[in-house]
Amino acid sequence: MSAARRDWEKAYQLLETEISSAAVAQEGDLESLEKWRVHFLGRKGTLTALLKTLKDLSLEDRRALGPKAQELKENLEKDLNSRQQALQEVHDSKTLSQNAMDPTLPGRPIWKGRQHLLTQTMREMTDILRRLGFSLAQGPQIETEHYNFNALNIPADHPSRDMLDTLYLQGSSLLLRTHTSPVQIRALESQKPPLRVIAPGRVFRHEATDATHSAVFHQIEGLAVDKNISFADLKAVLQVFLKSLFGSSTRLRLRPSYFPFTEPSAEVDISCFACDGKGCGLCKQSGFIEILGSGVVHPNVLKAVGYDPQVWSGFAFGIGVERVAMLRSRVKDIRSFYENLLSLA
Ligand code: FA5
Repeated sequence: MSAARRDWEKAYQLLETEISSAAVAQEGDLESLEKWRVHFLGRKGTLTALLKTLKDLSLEDRRALGPKAQELKENLEKDLNSRQQALQEVHDSKTLSQNAMDPTLPGRPIWKGRQHLLTQTMREMTDILRRLGFSLAQGPQIETEHYNFNALNIPADHPSRDMLDTLYLQGSSLLLRTHTSPVQIRALESQKPPLRVIAPGRVFRHEATDATHSAVFHQIEGLAVDKNISFADLKAVLQVFLKSLFGSSTRLRLRPSYFPFTEPSAEVDISCFACDGKGCGLCKQSGFIEILGSGVVHPNVLKAVGYDPQVWSGFAFGIGVERVAMLRSRVKDIRSFYENLLSLA
């Protein structure tokens, strides 16, 4: 036997002993298993190095030793693979159990869609009025001076015409309606009395915004025109409407007021539903809360649409939707309707 072969076989036996004592099964995690692989089978590994030295042996020795060395390598690789697989499984199941779902945790709340508080309020208000025999009427948000002012008996020098209050479209006499009252005129033009209409909608004013005022807000207009309509009819309708809206114990207070399109005109207050009229923070100790503007339709308005005020008469009212929603739901700042929708949830 050649000396080279003897040396090789000695090295082989040493390596075999080392391999069996450093059994692959002892490697407890993937990291140490990788170190083990590099040590024996890596590019500079001990077995790899021994295999490389085969080429220095004679052909006969190579034929005798080559398959043995190859078998050692293959067995080693097989052991390595099965250990690797086992460790990978342990690792995976550990990760899985760490990130596992806990079925005992409470579920996440589901966000349900709902109508905006203003929409809810507007619908509730219109529903009550529809039950009282009023039908829906509509008008555009961009209006002419005729409908917003002239036909409503608002003279050219009236303060509400002031550019500071009214938003005009640039370079035009068209404007964003400042109230829903122009729908009174449009309804009287398109329908013959007797009529009872309500017109809910958006209105615009050039106003500084604060906790109770917005430049864009909503109103509901009411108009009834018939023969022999009087202030008493207005009062009766408002009583039913406001009691339905704020509770049956609500009392009304009508204060003389001025609107160019109604005569007489009244500002309507309701008894404070928080303190039942005794006086509290909500009603500023007055016992009453102002809620809408109203009155008997001015003869000039009826004339503007071609009806004889001697034959026809009517009443009208205009109520702010935000105001109602704020009072009923104790919303402190009108801006929360438009800015922070989640706070209303
Ligand atoms: C009017 O707009 C009249 N057109 C109402 C009317 C109709 C009177 C028919 C007679 C007959 P006034 O400017 O007061 O009136 O507004 C009516 C309501 O709109 C107020 O009571 C208030 O609730 C609401 N409102 C007025 N200005 C604002 C604002 N800047 N922000 C929020 N709500 C407002």
